[in-house]
Amino acid sequence: MPIANGDGALAGTPLRREIENLDYRDALKVLEAEYPSKDGLDIHTLLDSKENGALTYNDFLILPGYIGFAAAEVTLDSPVTKRISLKTPLLSSPMDTVTEENMAIHLALLGGLGVIHHNCSADEQADMVRKVKRYENGFISDPIVLSAKTTVGEAKELKEKWGFGGFPVTETGELKSKLIGIITTRDIQFHPRPDDLVTEVMSTDLITAPAGTTLAEANAVLRESRKGKLPIVDNEGNLVSLLSRSDLLKNLNYPLASKMPHSKQLISAAAIGTRPDDKNRLQKLVDAGLDIVVLDSSQGNSLYQIEMVKYIKETYPQIDVIAGNVVTREQAASLIAAGADGLRIGMGSGSACITQEVMAVGRPQAAAVFAVSSFAARFGVPCIADGGIQNVGHIVKGLAMGASTVMMGGLLAGTTESPGNYFVSREGKLVKAYRGMGSIDAMEDKKAGGGAKDSKASNAGTARYFSEGDRLLVAQGVSGSVLDRGSVTKFVPYLLAGLQHSLQDIGSKSLVELREDVVSGKVRFELRTVSAQAEGNVHGLDSFDKKLYS
Ligand code: IMP
Repeated sequence: MPIANGDGALAGTPLRREIENLDYRDALKVLEAEYPSKDGLDIHTLLDSKENGALTYNDFLILPGYIGFAAAEVTLDSPVTKRISLKTPLLSSPMDTVTEENMAIHLALLGGLGVIHHNCSADEQADMVRKVKRYENGFISDPIVLSAKTTVGEAKELKEKWGFGGFPVTETGELKSKLIGIITTRDIQFHPRPDDLVTEVMSTDLITAPAGTTLAEANAVLRESRKGKLPIVDNEGNLVSLLSRSDLLKNLNYPLASKMPHSKQLISAAAIGTRPDDKNRLQKLVDAGLDIVVLDSSQGNSLYQIEMVKYIKETYPQIDVIAGNVVTREQAASLIAAGADGLRIGMGSGSACITQEVMAVGRPQAAAVFAVSSFAARFGVPCIADGGIQNVGHIVKGLAMGASTVMMGGLLAGTTESPGNYFVSREGKLVKAYRGMGSIDAMEDKKAGGGAKDSKASNAGTARYFSEGDRLLVAQGVSGSVLDRGSVTKFVPYLLAGLQHSLQDIGSKSLVELREDVVSGKVRFELRTVSAQAEGNVHGLDSFDKKLYS
């Protein structure tokens, strides 16, 4: 395509005549030869310059490049450890208001990874890992099950509580026990005697499918059967999972799902600390099927963590270890030398974090990500930009600084898949609780919403922010709330589409290409003054609605 005609600064000049009938790319070459210094800054000039100071994501912009492809063509595959790659470069933080099994399952289905928190007992955490590994798209692996002793009144209460009325009935009321019937709303709705047992009213002419049935096969049986629920049973007739008609339409295909290639199970990741007790915890997680362990510390360059990395690499060579957190090359060097398969970068940039204020340590996030990931790249160790991600632009900037993936806490805490319930704030907004793991609340609690049974001494969950000998808890985080963001099944596709459009504007067709283009100096940057930042945000409007996607 010839470049556009019109009166520009070059109009009528010999240079203009030379380029006007050329293809865009050839014209660009002629212009580059004429004006050898490129517009904007290369990444080193942007970040290594002492005059600029250490930068955060808001301090710079990426200059647009050339669009030669559709946004949908942009691919986002990226490694999270030396051995494991994801199709979506998004991780959720190991925090008790962000990642339990529901978040981990849904993020994995969407191609990312949820790191299960450890502010709970080892058994509870292992149970969550097991649920991720056992999850099969479309099958309900932990259905509400009634027992032969459940009464009609109790079944009605359960229906009220959960909002649906079809429950399988087994001998013991547990999964893995013999299936004896199914209760539907119609069976109990107008039943006059609440004290009758469900066994008196349940349907017993059951249509079931055997364990191992694929989702497509099970859906076909369900469609044929005209029933609301299809119980999946093993050889002995024990209930193993359930398929629901109302979920039929929701059983979307997840082509990006993060799966281990050999087992086809979802990839599971969980965090632990570096205390001796954490070795027992890890054993339980490994028994539950863990693939990636994240050593959760705000300052990862410690004797304890280095020893833990070595111990894990020796004891469980099949498990990948992500070490951290780090913000300097020296910290990274210790952990890479110990054998880390990935690094987590960030100190003090988290939205619920007061580390920099209280400890006077940390580093602005863009500077930290660039320093560590450009160093780690020499050893083939992928890095996670952890914390401070408030929008799609920050994700792009973290990745442009060299991170392979980004980790988010606050941005995902308001989704339906995070733990906890929504509530209405004093201002009348729908919100969910979000708290730093170094907040006094989190350090004192064993698990959000309770549930952990063991004592604090045996609970390594809060070890990220205090040592056992500490008499006084010094907070490094706050607790608060975040706005409702709906389901990650909508929010994550929005983030991904935004990411694709951004890479298209930059002119890089994949994350690999983006990293190469940044290193080669093709991708250019610009510093942002305070007034440039104000200009780049909505301004001058009396009021506005900031709806991000539809
Ligand atoms: P966000 O995405 O900006 O909300 O940051 C999430 C990240 O903050 C987590 O992945 C942790 O690295 C970090 N973080 C979590 N809790 C605390 C805390 O209490 N103090 C400091 N940093 C925290």
